[in-house]
Amino acid sequence: MIEKTLAIIKPDAVGKNVIGDIVSRIEKAGFRILAMKLTRLSKEQAEAFYEIHRGKAFFEDLVKYMTSGNIVAMALEKENAIDDFRKLIGATDPAKAEEGTIRKLYGTNIEKNAIHGSDSMENGVREVLFFFSSGEIVQNS
Ligand code: CMP
Repeated sequence: MIEKTLAIIKPDAVGKNVIGDIVSRIEKAGFRILAMKLTRLSKEQAEAFYEIHRGKAFFEDLVKYMTSGNIVAMALEKENAIDDFRKLIGATDPAKAEEGTIRKLYGTNIEKNAIHGSDSMENGVREVLFFFSSGEIVQNS
């Protein structure tokens, strides 16, 4: 099934100047980029995006980190996008991620882990619409 996933290149990876390499890996893995933007989240936006984690020990630090610099948000589409993207980026903790995955290559630690991918089809659609309007994510080729 063709699925959508939201990718976020996080502030640590943007700071390492590896946006181009990460985008290239995503394209080479067969994902189509439907929409993409470099932006910076406000505290309110970061809290809303990570609402599901509110109350967890790492929530406040996560919001601080995600608002600490620019991010790149991308709406991606592919057959089996959710699982395939999670394989491409690797485990949440870069230390546990497989060799060759984006988090292994560029993640700093379990919080500053370089990149986000949606964890279900439902969240893929919800998260894409958090950053992009439905008119922006239409396939045009
Ligand atoms: P992400 O895939 O964006 O989803 C939630 C984020 O919370 C995760 O990546 C990490 O950035 C962060 N996170 C998850 N677990 C922990 C943890 N145990 N300690 C610190 N940060 C975490």
